[in-house]
Amino acid sequence: MRDNKIIREQFPILKTENLIYLDTAASSQKPKKVLDAIDTFYKTTYSNIHRGAHFLGDQATERYEQARKKIGDFIHASSPREIIFTKNATESINLVAHSLGDWEGFFQEGDRIILTRMEHHANMVPWLQLAKRKKLKIEYIDFDDEKELLLSNIEKLLDLPTKLIAFPHVSNVLGTKNSIRDLCTIAREHCVLSLVDACQSVAHMPIDVQEIGCDFFAFSSHKMYGPSGVGVLYGRLSLLKKMPPFLGGGEMIREVTYENFTPNQVPEKFEAGTPPIAEVIGAGVAVDFLQEIGMRTVEIHDQKISKRAYSLLSEISELTVISHKNACGLVTFTMNNGIQNYDMADYLSDYGICIRGGHHCAEPLHNRLGIKTSLRASFGIYTTKEEGEKFAEMLKQAIQELKR
Ligand code: ALA
Repeated sequence: MRDNKIIREQFPILKTENLIYLDTAASSQKPKKVLDAIDTFYKTTYSNIHRGAHFLGDQATERYEQARKKIGDFIHASSPREIIFTKNATESINLVAHSLGDWEGFFQEGDRIILTRMEHHANMVPWLQLAKRKKLKIEYIDFDDEKELLLSNIEKLLDLPTKLIAFPHVSNVLGTKNSIRDLCTIAREHCVLSLVDACQSVAHMPIDVQEIGCDFFAFSSHKMYGPSGVGVLYGRLSLLKKMPPFLGGGEMIREVTYENFTPNQVPEKFEAGTPPIAEVIGAGVAVDFLQEIGMRTVEIHDQKISKRAYSLLSEISELTVISHKNACGLVTFTMNNGIQNYDMADYLSDYGICIRGGHHCAEPLHNRLGIKTSLRASFGIYTTKEEGEKFAEMLKQAIQELKR
């Protein structure tokens, strides 16, 4: 990898004295390149898009569509039309849930949706809402003590009346990297649609949605060094063409009368209202940033940091590591001996170390583990070995002080 120092220098916020930012799984920091692109776009090219009335609109549209192409190429979509911009990954998943729910004849009462017991709320609640609306059944795939999915009866689970399976590529709490290619293959063999929540994987490893064979793949820009306010939904084009729109208004229509409307083509059909134009352009630049480093290099770096953190924390008896031994991009743990998780997060914060405490939008997963909350340190391309070591040292110091 290019010197870690050179990469860090590209992140203005990391110049903050004593800051050790270990909350990248919640949101990554942004390189100057992304910040500059947004700033310059607003100063030189800003206009609404797709309105075709003037040269600025044309330039802004071109930049917006370039970002769509870059992001599509980044995950190996077969066409930029398979990339839909939303406001975050949560909205991407809601879009699929609503659209499939409105697709006449797709779901029948009693049909089944399969999820896992390691979901983020964003990949549970939209399906629970849909299940309520359409009288569907939800079943969950459990995980074992190694934090791996229990897949022995997967064939049976995917038999009729299952219509869809949704699962995380990487769990945002356990860090487990699931075998998504196998799951998508089995789903396809059973004519079951597959949706991958890729929020915690897309910034850590090379992605090829065609090789994975998923029908939908959802992620957000803000966890991959891009701005907040942009979510991405990859969808297989043949499916997207058949699916009804989610939100209404703006570019999503081709024709409107006082009585009715005809939806636009894909992807505009799914992009109602003025999108976050500058932020989408920034998301495209975040892809440039990652590709300049190379996703294999990113993967090796992030794995190394995560593995080292796992081994450092496993040696501390006053805490219990709950994440997978090969967790991707994070280590999650709970404090023992009466030390409260929140007290630990506060203590570290006072020393400039940012980690996340709570249930990380995965309350059922915590209940499944028999705990209320946990602490999570998460890493990115800018995280250094020294930061990991300092974090472990500060944990030990905090333990001594909080025990008193
Ligand atoms: N979903 C984000 C997380 O896991 C916010 O922290």
